[in-house]
Amino acid sequence: MNVLRFTFAFLLAFSGVLQVSAQLPKWVDDIPPLIHDHCSRCHPVGGAGPFPLITYEDVFFTASEDLHAMQEGEMPPWPADPSYNHFVGENYLTDSEVALFEEWFDTVEIFNESTGACHTKPLVIE
Ligand code: HEC
Repeated sequence: MNVLRFTFAFLLAFSGVLQVSAQLPKWVDDIPPLIHDHCSRCHPVGGAGPFPLITYEDVFFTASEDLHAMQEGEMPPWPADPSYNHFVGENYLTDSEVALFEEWFDTVEIFNESTGACHTKPLVIE
């Protein structure tokens, strides 16, 4: 009986893990840290970047260009090779960060097409 209960508990726990890992990236949890750490300092309202990247709307309406710039390694501009050397204040994206943004971009597009609306949540930058 104990073995059965243990097996059942194990399966329950394991299915929990599977559910978590299958979750799609969410704006609230995943994207602001990425954008705020790597983009917002040059892309505030009226900053050096040609448009702001701060709020959901900012990122939503430029997401296709943003993804392209990330994939091409154009943004954030960082000419040093992080596999060779590291610098104080360095700013580059890892492949998994770009993949996360791409997955969010794909999700948002589907979400937007099927409902005709997007979830908006204003952000506060400290
Ligand atoms: C060091 C400052 C800096 C950072 C950090 C930065 N940008 Fe930029 N960005 C600029 C400037 C300046 C321009 C306009 C000139 C140019 O295009 O190079 C620009 C232009 C762009 C453009 C227009 C197309 C292009 O490639 O020129 C996009 C899209 C963009 N940035 C997205 C991003 C995203 C997304 C991030 C974060 C992953 C980011 N930027 C981080 C300074 C920055």
